[in-house]
Amino acid sequence: MNDTTQRIVVVTGGASGIGAACASELARAGWKVVVADIDFENAREVAAEIGGVAQRIDVADDASVNDAAATIEEAVGPVYGLVNSAGIIQKPVPPHEMDMAVWDRIQQVNYRGSYIAGLAFARNMLARGQGSIVNITSITDQVATPLHGYGPSKFAVVGMTKCLAAEWGPSGIRVNAVAPGYTLTPALVGAIERGERDLSALERNAALQRAVRPSEIGSAVEFLLSDRAAAITGVDLPVDCGWLVANPWHTYGGLRKSALAPVLSSST
Ligand SMILES: NC(=O)c1ccc[n+]([C@@H]2O[C@H](COP(=O)([O-])OP(=O)(O)OC[C@H]3O[C@@H](n4cnc5c(N)ncnc54)[C@H](O)[C@@H]3O)[C@@H](O)[C@H]2O)c1
Repeated sequence: MNDTTQRIVVVTGGASGIGAACASELARAGWKVVVADIDFENAREVAAEIGGVAQRIDVADDASVNDAAATIEEAVGPVYGLVNSAGIIQKPVPPHEMDMAVWDRIQQVNYRGSYIAGLAFARNMLARGQGSIVNITSITDQVATPLHGYGPSKFAVVGMTKCLAAEWGPSGIRVNAVAPGYTLTPALVGAIERGERDLSALERNAALQRAVRPSEIGSAVEFLLSDRAAAITGVDLPVDCGWLVANPWHTYGGLRKSALAPVLSSST
């Protein structure tokens, strides 16, 4: 790909799940990828698989984020792209049953972590007058869910995405978000196994009747980072197999398959 050849991109949370899939899709598209994660061992494994570079980063710690940004600029080169995928989830408990330390940690990693990583890496992007950032949000940033720490943390990331898109647009930096639906990553599979999420309900409630594959998030992220999306900034793109559009249908008896479907499929 001409527009992204040798461009450097940092993927936080790149050692697992959606971050690892983004790293893989970006490498396939010609980007030089820095896999940045608090889990350095897994970051090294992912980096080795895709021909990238591993970097330890703790997005909950300002010093770690600033050190990582400086180290990468010096050791790898000018960073053009940033994907903020580092994030943590929670149990769907009522608010009074949620420990505030857990709530604080979710805000610190998901919201504050995306913000300070954006600031640290944008500093040099602004000086160069070019760059592209994609924040990984969630479909829970658009509707109410019983995730009283996680959901609002993602609402905040969308707000931040829009504010920074307007702030930095005149300086040549685009800031967008991708909102994954239920995506089969280690985090979600673990929650399903612990009984905190119901896979068949997640599939049933999506228009396309299935969960999202991590590579499908990676493709959307790669598109938004690239020059193919040069006119797009400040959006929060759902990649959710139609979970958001399907939800209101449950008030009207649920989703239904068209009676014409077998005819159409046999004639095409
Ligand atoms: N899986 C889904 O269904 C889903 C849906 C919507 C949004 N998301 C979002 O996608 C992102 C990735 O989630 P995932 O499902 O791939 O999870 P995951 O647990 O597989 O990966 C998360 C990665 O973030 C890293 N991480 C956690 N805390 C960190 C910190 N303080 N500093 C640096 N790295 C840290 C972890 O080590 C891990 O490698 C998260 O922001 C999550 O909220 C996931």
